[in-house]
Amino acid sequence: MIITAHKNVNLAPDMGDRTFRIGVFRNTPQNTPPGAGLPAFALHVLLLLLIIAAGACAQTAHPLTGRRIAPTMGIGGADWLERSEREGEEHPDDALDALNIKPGMLVADVGAGTGYITARLAKRVGPTGKVFATDIQPEMLSRLREKLDREHVTNVEPVLSTQADPKLPAGKLDLILMVDVYHELTQPQRVLRKMKESLKPGGRLVLIEYRKEDPTIPIRPEHKMSVAEVKTEVEAEGYRLAEVLKNLPRQNIFVFVPVRAL
Ligand SMILES: C[S@@+](CC[C@H](N)C(=O)[O-])C[C@H]1O[C@@H](n2cnc3c(N)ncnc32)[C@H](O)[C@@H]1O
Repeated sequence: MIITAHKNVNLAPDMGDRTFRIGVFRNTPQNTPPGAGLPAFALHVLLLLLIIAAGACAQTAHPLTGRRIAPTMGIGGADWLERSEREGEEHPDDALDALNIKPGMLVADVGAGTGYITARLAKRVGPTGKVFATDIQPEMLSRLREKLDREHVTNVEPVLSTQADPKLPAGKLDLILMVDVYHELTQPQRVLRKMKESLKPGGRLVLIEYRKEDPTIPIRPEHKMSVAEVKTEVEAEGYRLAEVLKNLPRQNIFVFVPVRAL
């Protein structure tokens, strides 16, 4: 018996109708799923319950702002992340210049994807610093490792995280950066609380997101964030919005500091 479920996932908003298919599982003698041997009806009920449970954990809208959560960009979007036009559209080096990243810092690139930002961060923190590059997709981390090997970057630790937990060390980080990721988090409140535990005193959380207020930016609305949405959602989890930098052509840079109990 082969059971394969497929899901269409939107990639980047300006990638047209490109979709891809994820095989959920394939029942082979080498890969026998839990429940093998149960009658077919029981197996279907079990599968249905699992799907309902997964849906209950993943949110489709943020409970405070009602913002629609964007679908996760899958591995089919990897080449789009590395597109040559990105430099001109996003000015990634200007973004990092604005963050005053110093050699020796410990930083996290949460939702690192193919490592487009990770490699740049690694050069800035240098051999005495370190970058934790997290992603929920092993395929993205493979692409990231290939890129880092090609560029001889050795101060990055790839981390396979979960939807709810970035799996970062506690109390150590100078900076946690999320470039074009926050709008995809299915459990943003839990991730924000976890990230707060990982910042050291004086550490910052920075989100970079396409401006929702500007309708001329050719990105679908659920892949953009407004200043009001970001401020409401992130401050509710124990941060203060210190500044919004507007030096990039299409994105805002949101700098947050954790609010500590007195
Ligand atoms: C649009 S891509 C951006 C990748 C990278 N930051 C960049 O700018 O090139 C979003 C990435 O976030 C990852 N992601 C989504 N939800 C995540 C979560 N809860 N924790 C970590 N990564 C996540 C996706 O797997 C995907 O690789």
